[in-house]
Amino acid sequence: SAGIAGAETPPLAQKDRYKVGFAQMESNNPWRIAETKSFHDTAKACNWDLIATDAAGSAAKQVADVDSMIAQGIDVLFLPPREEKPLIPAVMKAKAAGIPTFLVDRSVDPNVAKAGEHFVAFLGSDFIDQGERAAEWLIENFDGDKGVIVELEGTTGSSPANDRKKGFDDRIAQDDRFEIVASQTGDFARDLGRQVMETLLQAHPDVNVVYAHNDEMAIGAIQALELAGRKPGEDVTIVSIDGTRDALQAIIDGKMGVTVESSPFFGPLACEVMKKYAAGEEIPGWVQVEDRIFTQDNAADHIDEAY
Ligand code: AHR
Repeated sequence: SAGIAGAETPPLAQKDRYKVGFAQMESNNPWRIAETKSFHDTAKACNWDLIATDAAGSAAKQVADVDSMIAQGIDVLFLPPREEKPLIPAVMKAKAAGIPTFLVDRSVDPNVAKAGEHFVAFLGSDFIDQGERAAEWLIENFDGDKGVIVELEGTTGSSPANDRKKGFDDRIAQDDRFEIVASQTGDFARDLGRQVMETLLQAHPDVNVVYAHNDEMAIGAIQALELAGRKPGEDVTIVSIDGTRDALQAIIDGKMGVTVESSPFFGPLACEVMKKYAAGEEIPGWVQVEDRIFTQDNAADHIDEAY
């Protein structure tokens, strides 16, 4: 079919009903579960036969899941690539099979796989901006003389971990009150975030700021700090990203300062963009999602809609 080896992405026929693949990377946190649910909810509303898989935290399984979807003859693929490089073969294979791919919530290495050529578009947030906004909130709200920061990074090699680090670190480097004394991966997971925080707390007992690349690790860090007799929100400022229910509750309880939103509700946007693509409309290579910011000022207003 058209576009298989060319510079363009494969076309999508206009149909009443589509066979849609959604290859989820893992389901070990509320964010992922909310995203998968959003695709299931959209399947009804958008008339999809949805094939949804769960790679259980393995990039290799995620590639194999896409292979299996290609074999099952999906019309279109929605892929949140767990890591930037290992998922490139899945993008290339889908294109070779004539299946248009939309990356959702995470991206792949842009030097190798390109929007408008290998995949149609990336639907998602500006992760660099999220990191910058977390840093800016800290710069404006920290009232001590010296901020000793521990950074809990997301999954190594994933686009949000790379970009949230860059955005935050570059901004913080412009204010000499702050020093990042340790930066280590917690794989976006609560339990690992707790364990890493426990270890880093022993090496850096003077820590008074934690920047976590997502709320699950922030909650894990709060648990570790409390176990060590520290008072998150009082003697340690916690800044994070996502906007989960537990994080909004932690803000309401005074334990967390800020969480910059990163929404998991991609289903409706996926439906809309896919229909436009099938109708032959031009799709920008990055369909950017706008993010809000949750603090003491508004957390209570949003907790009911949180996940
Ligand atoms: O890709 C988005 C990130 O992935 C979310 O911030 C995180 O919670 C999730 O696992």
